[in-house]
Amino acid sequence: MEEWDAIRAVGMEAARNSGEILQSWSSRFTVSEKGPADLVTEADLASQAAIVKHILASFPDHDLLGEEGLSRGSSDSAYRWVIDPLDGTSNYVHGFPYYAISIGVQYQGELVVGVIFDPNRDEMFSAVRGKGATLNGDPIRPSRCHQLADAFLVASLPRRAHLEDPAVRRFLRAIPVAESVQRTGSAALNLAYVACGRIDAFWSSSLCPWDTAAGAVIVSEASGMVTSLTEGPFVLEKPEILAVNGAELHASVLELLNSTH
Ligand code: IPD
Ligand code: CA
Ligand code: CA
Repeated sequence: MEEWDAIRAVGMEAARNSGEILQSWSSRFTVSEKGPADLVTEADLASQAAIVKHILASFPDHDLLGEEGLSRGSSDSAYRWVIDPLDGTSNYVHGFPYYAISIGVQYQGELVVGVIFDPNRDEMFSAVRGKGATLNGDPIRPSRCHQLADAFLVASLPRRAHLEDPAVRRFLRAIPVAESVQRTGSAALNLAYVACGRIDAFWSSSLCPWDTAAGAVIVSEASGMVTSLTEGPFVLEKPEILAVNGAELHASVLELLNSTH
């Protein structure tokens, strides 16, 4: 659909513009009397407000869902934008340059457009359903790693997870068998990295729609696999996701994560 291309273009403009806002706020952290927690809240809100303004200038009747208390619904819009104005907040606060803006768009409930922008590396990941995924305009594909022993795996864990939390158990179970197991602090960028082959598999059981909306489309369009943490399909409203480079490694990761020892 041509309209989806136009939506992607507006999403990319909004994300790039918010990247500038986030970077300018982060440079104020060292000179402000406010604490990082207050500043990050202001940066988050400023980023989201700018994204919303940008979207509504082109699509005034579209629905919106954003992490920072944003929920704008109307009965007659077929489109809904699902926005995380800053994914990787903890990294951002600490000056650890792994965070992004994530914008996904649903059409009649189906995810059709995804945009993830990393302002530190100036990397724009995007996808339109049926048209593939790109990084700064060039087509991207997942990695070709098929063996767990060679795999670079990443998980998102709940904040302050208890040692007995199933998410922690899954993470620990992967350590002896994979080449590397990481926790990086930005679910959106992790998904973008699965799509372009830098991460072989990523999973979490504690995410929100704005963490995964854009990344799910980008991984699928790059020809990766996106499912739940069990056999079932990925569902945006549910907190779990497993994104893998392809079917072979997906089967191994699924078995590993669901095994009981
Ligand atoms: C968080 C990041 C993190 C994940 C958390 C999310 P935020 O998003 O994606 O990787 O583990 O569950 O809440 O709070 O930085 O937007
Ligand atoms: Ca997030
Ligand atoms: Ca956020």
